[in-house]
Amino acid sequence: MSKVVRIHQTGGPEQMVLEDVEVGEPGPGEIRIRHHAIGLNYIDVYFRTGLYPQALPGGLGMEGAGVVEAVGEGVTHLKAGDRAAYASQPPGAYAERRVMPARCVCRLPDAIDFETGAAMMLKGMTAQYLLRRTLPQGGLQPGDFVLWHAVAGGVGLIAVQWAKALGLQLIGTAGSDEKCALAHSLGAAHVINYRREDFLARVREITGGQGVKVVYDSVGKDTWEKSLDCLRPFGLMASFGNASGPVPPFAPGILGAKGSIYVTRQTLFTHIATREATQAMADELFEVVASGKVKIRIDQRFALADVRQAHEALESRKTTGSTILLP
Ligand SMILES: NC(=O)c1ccc[n+]([C@@H]2O[C@H](COP(=O)([O-])OP(=O)(O)OC[C@H]3O[C@@H](n4cnc5c(N)ncnc54)[C@H](OP(=O)(O)O)[C@@H]3O)[C@@H](O)[C@H]2O)c1
Repeated sequence: MSKVVRIHQTGGPEQMVLEDVEVGEPGPGEIRIRHHAIGLNYIDVYFRTGLYPQALPGGLGMEGAGVVEAVGEGVTHLKAGDRAAYASQPPGAYAERRVMPARCVCRLPDAIDFETGAAMMLKGMTAQYLLRRTLPQGGLQPGDFVLWHAVAGGVGLIAVQWAKALGLQLIGTAGSDEKCALAHSLGAAHVINYRREDFLARVREITGGQGVKVVYDSVGKDTWEKSLDCLRPFGLMASFGNASGPVPPFAPGILGAKGSIYVTRQTLFTHIATREATQAMADELFEVVASGKVKIRIDQRFALADVRQAHEALESRKTTGSTILLP
């Protein structure tokens, strides 16, 4: 048996209930893992509210770290007793133990503890594919300006440090002066409190009217329109989330009028579709974390049983960095 957080219907944090669920043996291509720590991500909110649909009753959570208890037929990269961490579909990480596909589960290097592993896999591989693969024509060179919204969040604070290591001038937005100061201290070249400052005017001022080469936007509805105007000609709008609500439909013609700009909507799950691709991304993440170039900040810890408070804190913009749940 395992304590598992499930939803029987979509809605607010109160829909999440802790239940005792039978955990069976792993089938072909699966493992059973005992979590030591579980990562909280904004995508969990989208599944809880129903913005992202799933069959009900359903689990939540896509990031965790722990010890492999058993492996199913055909799993060769893991064995019972291995320390492991993952970002993976389907939702179900909010649990003491779970059976899950092995494909996206990676062995966790000894130098990285379980809490850090749980706090970094989904967020870190997201920062990785955005900064390393989601690039404008001609790529990004040291000194280039990029704009990153919600920069003091889980993905954001990893991206700040990674961008600095790549030599980029990251302009970050955040919802309070304290959050801005935190992002600045970790390597953001410029920070803008977008609750009291006009981020478009500030970006124009900082870049001498040129604009940025890429906007990395996970806020969605509230930042979309002005973000397009922050781009240089041929710049890239990399949309990857909807914390304020989904981006409304738009006419492609505006992309020409705003400087022949490009728009893409990316999701991690396309990037980690195979075991090989997942391992290559995870290895790059492990390397930047083990080298100290990127430090994983765990600014909030909650007991798994207190998951409602964790969601309330995340949705009310009270968190910074990563948040973990402890089973
Ligand atoms: N597509 C992908 O592959 C992928 C993968 C991972 C994450 N994501 C997305 O990346 C974003 C960051 O994820 P995360 O887990 O690290 O979360 P997070 O950044 O720690 O939390 C979300 C942040 O969004 C900001 N925000 C702006 N408007 C908001 C609103 N109306 N309601 C709530 N928050 C608002 C808040 O920061 P401020 O107060 O500073 O504004 C809040 O702290 C999320 O949108 C997530 O869905 C996408």
